[in-house]
Amino acid sequence: MAGSTDNRPPGAGHGGPAVPPPLWLLAELTYRCPLHCVFCYNPTRYASTGAELSTAQWVDVMRQARALGAAQLGFSGGEPLLRDDLEELVREARGLGFYTNLITSGVGLSPARARRLKDAGLDHVQLSFQDSTRELNDFLSHTRTFELKQQVARTIKEHDWPMVLNCVLHRHNLPHVGAIIEMALALQAEYLELANAQYYGWAWLNRDQLMPTREQLREAEAVVQSWRERIGSRCRLLFVVPDYFEERPKACMNGWGSVFLSIAPDGLAMPCHNARDLPGLSLPHVGEHGIADIWQRSQAFNAYRGEDWMREPCRSCDERHKDFGGCRCQAFLLTGDAAATDPVCAKSPAHGQIVELVRSAPARRHIPLVFRSDAHSRALG
Ligand code: SF4
Ligand code: FES
Repeated sequence: MAGSTDNRPPGAGHGGPAVPPPLWLLAELTYRCPLHCVFCYNPTRYASTGAELSTAQWVDVMRQARALGAAQLGFSGGEPLLRDDLEELVREARGLGFYTNLITSGVGLSPARARRLKDAGLDHVQLSFQDSTRELNDFLSHTRTFELKQQVARTIKEHDWPMVLNCVLHRHNLPHVGAIIEMALALQAEYLELANAQYYGWAWLNRDQLMPTREQLREAEAVVQSWRERIGSRCRLLFVVPDYFEERPKACMNGWGSVFLSIAPDGLAMPCHNARDLPGLSLPHVGEHGIADIWQRSQAFNAYRGEDWMREPCRSCDERHKDFGGCRCQAFLLTGDAAATDPVCAKSPAHGQIVELVRSAPARRHIPLVFRSDAHSRALG
């Protein structure tokens, strides 16, 4: 029987009588991955985490999350296709009434596997690319996967799935943004997510190498806009500007403990997939606590929920309902204090640090890129 995480009433730390349920359950099925991307968002110390949850434990998590009210389920990783039980989990999730989404590098999505996942009821696929050229795609992932990804994109369309292509942008591939859009159109993607790298996880280690120039961003945004005008709704283009180039932070996670319930491969429940790296959080394990209890009462999910935790300048800022003070992980990485105002915000006393990082990155480009690897992850910790 799952125990209680603390004795505060539901809603404690949220400033209201009840905590609305999560919308999304993010099932990070495994940190294992055949790729070695330099901007991977998995924690850098993933290799020293505990054993993966079993099929039965995942099914139990899904049942509880659905009973709590979660409606959408993302299967991600690492590479979720490395789990042999993915079909079984998808079937169970559909039976529970979740809308299911597979977030994949494509490695392992053979036509036979795609058929089985279709039969199991998978609703939607998000496929990642690293670039529109074989050279850069294969270099940045440290694998020969470019052709395979093209084939997988065709397989996805043959199975009538709506397809999101996702390409993380940075200074190496920003000049290719037009070609990336052409590739997405050729592959018949319904949606192309052009998400500039955000600097945490492995991208934090490679920040100086990945950071674009303002000029590159301006040009890429203009290219995206001109394509938008030409293609209308044929393929929706989302261009996410990197935080460091903004004056206000993003509403990270749409607010802590508000929409997303992430479960890590080893069963730790997290309000953000990077929360493992934040100090002072007791992350609850799904084997020890029920999902409703975790969501409503746990210290970790209440730590930055709502506004009670905020300090100045956020506490009295009239924009706090819009961005919730920005990203806790970014605040911690840049200031050492997870409760600080995100330094991306021009009102933060630490904002000058961001301005200086953007200005001086080109001078530090000689630092070698760090590819995600088990060996490097183990060395970190
Ligand atoms: Fe957002 Fe805080 Fe900046 Fe206000 S001070 S805009 S709430 S980050
Ligand atoms: Fe963790 Fe933003 S990435 S709160």
